[in-house]
Amino acid sequence: MMKVFIVYDTKYGNTKLVAEKIIEGMKEAEGIETEIGDVEETNPEQIIGFDAILIGSPNHFGGPVGGIKRFIDKLGELDLVAKWVTVFDTYEGEDFEKAVKKMEKRISEKVPELKLITPSLSIKVDGTKGPITDGELPKCKEFGKKIADQLKA
Ligand SMILES: Cc1cc2nc3c(=O)[nH]c(=O)nc-3n(C[C@H](O)[C@H](O)[C@H](O)COP(=O)(O)O)c2cc1C
Repeated sequence: MMKVFIVYDTKYGNTKLVAEKIIEGMKEAEGIETEIGDVEETNPEQIIGFDAILIGSPNHFGGPVGGIKRFIDKLGELDLVAKWVTVFDTYEGEDFEKAVKKMEKRISEKVPELKLITPSLSIKVDGTKGPITDGELPKCKEFGKKIADQLKA
């Protein structure tokens, strides 16, 4: 059984919904156990025994939020079992993939033992509070399926 932890931050709920849809996708594959946590309520030490970590953030000012940046930095101080990571973001404007690229860079600098499971996911929302733009939600479930397949391979 592969254990996956999904940690996210959200101000208006959209990034949380993305996280939940990713889990739905992963659950379609057997052999994946998941746990989800808001970054504000998750102690990085909870993640030590997991095989893979998914990290999601809304795009604030062209990058991930501070809580997610600090969380990544703390992962770098732990003796993780996990070898695998991937990231996702939500954005409102022209900032496609900007937050995920910054998260990837930070992970490669602070937690270099983690390797990307899949390319990251960037999901558009309509306006600051959302909702998620039409056609974007199915991508989340597909992303989850791809992660599960990759982890089982
Ligand atoms: C303080 C703040 C700054 C933001 N800056 C950007 C930005 O630079 N680029 C962008 O595309 N969206 C920006 N947004 C829109 C967020 O990406 C959007 O609110 C978020 O994806 C919604 O996700 P959530 O419901 O999980 O909070 C910003 C939102 C807030 C509240």
